[in-house]
Amino acid sequence: MPEPPDTLSKVLALAKRRGFFWPSCEIYGGVAGFYDYGPLGAQLKASVEGLWRSYYVAGEGFAELSAPAISPEAVFRASGHLEKFSDLMAECGKCGEAFRADHLLRELAPGEEPPASVETMAAALRRAGARCPKCGGDLSEPFAFNLMFRTNIGPGTRRPGYLRPETAQAMFLDFGLLYRHFREKLPFGAVQIGRGFRNEIAPRQGIIRLREFNMAEAEVFVDPERKARHPRFSEVAGMRLRLVPGEGPEGDLSLGEAVSRGTMAHESIAYFVGLTARFLVEAGVDPARLRFRQHAQDEMAHYAADCWDAETLLSFGWTEVVGVADRTCYDLEAHMRASGQDLRAFARYETPVTVERTVVAPVHAVLGPRFKKDARAVARALEALEAGAVEGRDSVEVEADGRKLKVEKDCFTVKKTTETSSGRWFTPHVIEPSYGIDRIIYSVLEHAYSETKKEGEDYFVLRLRPMMAPIQVAVFPLLNKDELVAVADDINRRLGEAGFRTHSEAADSIGRRYARMDEVGAPFCVTVDFDTLKDGTVTVRDRDTTRQVRLALAEVAGAVGELIEGTRRID
Ligand code: ATP
Ligand code: GLY
Repeated sequence: MPEPPDTLSKVLALAKRRGFFWPSCEIYGGVAGFYDYGPLGAQLKASVEGLWRSYYVAGEGFAELSAPAISPEAVFRASGHLEKFSDLMAECGKCGEAFRADHLLRELAPGEEPPASVETMAAALRRAGARCPKCGGDLSEPFAFNLMFRTNIGPGTRRPGYLRPETAQAMFLDFGLLYRHFREKLPFGAVQIGRGFRNEIAPRQGIIRLREFNMAEAEVFVDPERKARHPRFSEVAGMRLRLVPGEGPEGDLSLGEAVSRGTMAHESIAYFVGLTARFLVEAGVDPARLRFRQHAQDEMAHYAADCWDAETLLSFGWTEVVGVADRTCYDLEAHMRASGQDLRAFARYETPVTVERTVVAPVHAVLGPRFKKDARAVARALEALEAGAVEGRDSVEVEADGRKLKVEKDCFTVKKTTETSSGRWFTPHVIEPSYGIDRIIYSVLEHAYSETKKEGEDYFVLRLRPMMAPIQVAVFPLLNKDELVAVADDINRRLGEAGFRTHSEAADSIGRRYARMDEVGAPFCVTVDFDTLKDGTVTVRDRDTTRQVRLALAEVAGAVGELIEGTRRID
């Protein structure tokens, strides 16, 4: 079930109060679409990114790159972003406020899927009677607004550059180097974690729609003739997920069924959908509030042939957090055309293949004297003809250097040749799982959030997964007394050295300190009291059950490790 609509403001308030994240530049009034991660948020982000690396770098064996955030215009002209990376917007003629046209339409006609073209959007807004939601003024006709931030590289304006709207492009530009790194063998993947920049028309919902955001992207290069199969598909084939296909009914389906019924086009895209589901749940997304929705044809990015979004159900509705796209050979071909570089791969046959062909062969001794300076062009044109097109004919017409020429049959013969080929050249296709780290962090927080009343006061608990929690274990002296503080400091130091993320504080009642730890999602607290000084035991408290157990000091580090891993419980 979705949380009540005001959960967004409560989670944002908690995030600010407790140091997860808050609007940037607040002392200067703030600027929409930019957020700072604070001490706990930066740690949570590091945990999400660490988990992602464990899936994509360690788990899949992909290579991590780190490329600049600014690229010259040629890159985005070739990639299509300069021409096509835009949203439709409309401006109010009275107050000047700008709105995303699809958002205006969704408000006015909730069931209607917003159209993609300027003309159909204009008609849909007129039909819905759209006016400025802020002042009621007349709206302009919708127009395309490019979302890339433009800058100048070096002084002057002669070398425009753009902040990358996705990290992906560097991995396409570097394909040749990566191909050699992977010993010229497909499939392989390259990944990047880094900032993406989009001058969003309407940033909103905290860290959900930012103008500078954090992405984790993998570009998986595959042989198009082999993408129907994925070598590890059996690992995800049994996973049942809620799927919303572009056509056909929504429902729960295993990934194996989804591929065999044609709901998903091939194993390669289905494998990364499965991996994404597993990752999101491990990060802390509630599986009951997760679904995968396929893009409609007119919703797809300009480079994609197919795309499945992972969506989480948040208090303001289903929200895309990851896109798994089949970008085909779109990007590599675009960069080959624009740069003139060869970005193809070669698939070697197990044994060389010999093919017999019937070809048209020019008779040079006749062509030379007859066609003089055009002889070479005529010979090339003849070689390009299919044998079937000349057989039995007295003459053929060919085009040489833009002129049509008649060529008599004594100028060519038809003969059989054999060619041996060791493999085939092809442009790889790309499967791209593209993760929005900020949206994942927000989803994890909202799904972990719960509130109750305790002694008449609001009481908040964040049930973060222990492996992800920014504070995994807090160590408290029961009272702020030197002899208790010394023992607590010692335990805290030892747990930190053992690799746990710890926290300690001595002020306030123990109940208030437990409450603060519940609110930031610390799963376990260790408390040192006067019995500790007598019998060497401490109390360990579980956030979710509030149960407590007494353990010997020597046992604490091992027990906390097992509790965090989930191999031990406090009963
Ligand atoms: P939307 O339709 O919500 O604008 P999108 O389809 O443009 O998203 P993609 O281009 O697929 O998003 O980007 C990949 C991922 O990056 C998204 O799944 C999302 O998690 C994240 N993302 C995209 N735009 C933003 C943004 N403005 N702020 C935060 N995260 C974003
Ligand atoms: N790289 C995914 C996207 O920009 O949409």
